Amino acid sequence: MTTPTLPPTAQRAAQVPSVVLAGATGALGLLIAHHLRRRGATVRALVRAQSNTGAEAESLRLQGAEVVVVNYDSVADLTRACQGAGCVVSALNGLRPIIVDAQTRLLAAAVAAGVPRFIPSDFSADFSRLPEGSNRNFDLRREFQRHLDQAPIQATSILNGMFMDLLTGQAPVVLTGPRRVLYWGSADQPLDFTTLVNTADFTAAAALDATTPRYLRVAGEVASIRDLREAATAATGHRFRLLRAGSLGLLGTLIKVSKALAPAPDEVFPPWQGMQYLHNMLSGQAKLAGPLDNARYPDIRWTPVREVLARGQ
Ligand SMILES: NC(=O)c1ccc[n+]([C@@H]2O[C@H](COP(=O)([O-])OP(=O)(O)OC[C@H]3O[C@@H](n4cnc5c(N)ncnc54)[C@H](OP(=O)(O)O)[C@@H]3O)[C@@H](O)[C@H]2O)c1
Repeated sequence: MTTPTLPPTAQRAAQVPSVVLAGATGALGLLIAHHLRRRGATVRALVRAQSNTGAEAESLRLQGAEVVVVNYDSVADLTRACQGAGCVVSALNGLRPIIVDAQTRLLAAAVAAGVPRFIPSDFSADFSRLPEGSNRNFDLRREFQRHLDQAPIQATSILNGMFMDLLTGQAPVVLTGPRRVLYWGSADQPLDFTTLVNTADFTAAAALDATTPRYLRVAGEVASIRDLREAATAATGHRFRLLRAGSLGLLGTLIKVSKALAPAPDEVFPPWQGMQYLHNMLSGQAKLAGPLDNARYPDIRWTPVREVLARGQ
């Protein structure tokens, strides 16, 4: 009996891994798409109708991604979009309607389409050991995780700590004006930081790796508040000092007050949620446990905090 031989183009098509990427127009999603293409994958980017004509969708097309408009309320629509993929990656961002509801429909679609692997939109500190209520956004991720762990699909969560890029923007920790590093609790608690680019590159590599475990943990740098002070001093050439605002108990009280004064229930990252994130990290409860998986894809060079702070000058 002879084995049928595919024509060369069909052989190539059969070898190129295909990844479905939800949330591809987002900050992280665009970078994951870039790194998937760079690593030779076919990318099917799922976008909502209102995002289809935007600059981000255009940029995805220019990168060679197939942009597919989907209705996240329709499992049938999502199932069609998932056909033939080797992995579904979600970089969706939002609250319950997205992280729990839309991702659950995307998961059902991936299973129905026979996709073997799913990477949820976790991309965070380790939320698995946190008490319920200590971080609204992490509660939603644990809720989705319960659906994911019941589904007949191989799941991999990528845990990367805090996006290092936030240190020069939204996260009020390294204060360049007064040259202080602001913190609560202990200045010696190790904290995990990874850049968006490193997270995206690692996620792309993981999406193309059929052997990933349930969790992959990475950190571009593990740094304490004291280490951040050293990094800020080295990056700027100016001496930074520590500014301890109080205990973690005080930060907990500030979170309650801030939430009561400005609840912003529809905002994904209101100030009180950012403070919850800081509390989770500074308490050590969201610290990535066990050995890191940084070396899994040896081509990735991990950006240290000092480099990001120097860039933010
Ligand atoms: N570790 C950290 O420090 C950190 C910091 C920030 C974010 N993150 C995480 O990184 C992941 C991606 O975040 P991001 O900042 O890249 O997100 P983003 O830029 O805000 O948006 C991601 C995508 O979410 C989709 N989306 C928004 N609202 C939606 C809705 N109502 N229905 C369906 N899709 C909707 C959009 O898809 P369309 O293409 O359809 O518009 C958008 O492209 C999230 O898990 C987020 O929590 C982590």
